[in-house]
Amino acid sequence: MINEGFYDLIYRRRDVRAQFNGGPVMPEVLFRVLSAANAAPSVGMSQPWDFILVEEVSLRTKFAEHVEQERVAFAGLLEGDRLSTFEKIKIEGILDSSMGIVVTYDAKRGAPAVLGRNTIDDAGLYSVCLAIENLWLAATNEGMGVGWVSFYKEEYLSQLMELPSHVRPIAWLCFGPVSHLEEIPDLERLGWQARRSLEHHVFSNKYGIEDSPNRWQLLG
Ligand SMILES: Cc1cc2nc3c(=O)[nH]c(=O)nc-3n(C[C@H](O)[C@H](O)[C@H](O)COP(=O)(O)O)c2cc1C
Repeated sequence: MINEGFYDLIYRRRDVRAQFNGGPVMPEVLFRVLSAANAAPSVGMSQPWDFILVEEVSLRTKFAEHVEQERVAFAGLLEGDRLSTFEKIKIEGILDSSMGIVVTYDAKRGAPAVLGRNTIDDAGLYSVCLAIENLWLAATNEGMGVGWVSFYKEEYLSQLMELPSHVRPIAWLCFGPVSHLEEIPDLERLGWQARRSLEHHVFSNKYGIEDSPNRWQLLG
């Protein structure tokens, strides 16, 4: 029996910037969302993630100022239509959201013999991203929004969070209740980048070899 609600949740999830209402986050909601993140698969069961809940406005303000500098730096690389499109896009909701959740990666956890990370060092990072996706979907299920901010220098966020040198910041997630979730991603709605459909991403046997369109004829 297919659970349609599961797919509905996947497609409803959005990256949120402008729709945060700054309302309270109930501890039981946060517990369920972070527990879902902590239930993610991880290489060698290493669970290399940690979550720093950033509520202090002074810290969030400092981070927002840094992100603004990086936004301006990126804008400086753009010209013409690309620049004017980018200027319409809000790239963070750091102070509009109820809190930040900084997700970190501890490469030393379970080391040196992390089962499955022997040949692929990045497998630890992949694990953290899976925890983030679980968090994002659980938040959507709870009526919360998540906005991933990556306009920052890792060194800056590491210092702000006082991370030990072996721990990397992977994401600043703006988190909290929202007025609504947009149906279409901001980047698509505002003309920056549309989502490509599945057939562009499926190959047959070797990279770059188009899959037979017959497979999808009656679907989608
Ligand atoms: C690793 C990662 C970093 C991202 N960084 C930012 C960011 O700095 N600012 C932003 O506005 N959106 C950021 N996003 C959100 C993407 O723009 C968004 O996921 C994409 O446009 C698709 O929209 P959707 O998540 O609503 O489906 C990031 C997403 C990912 C996965």
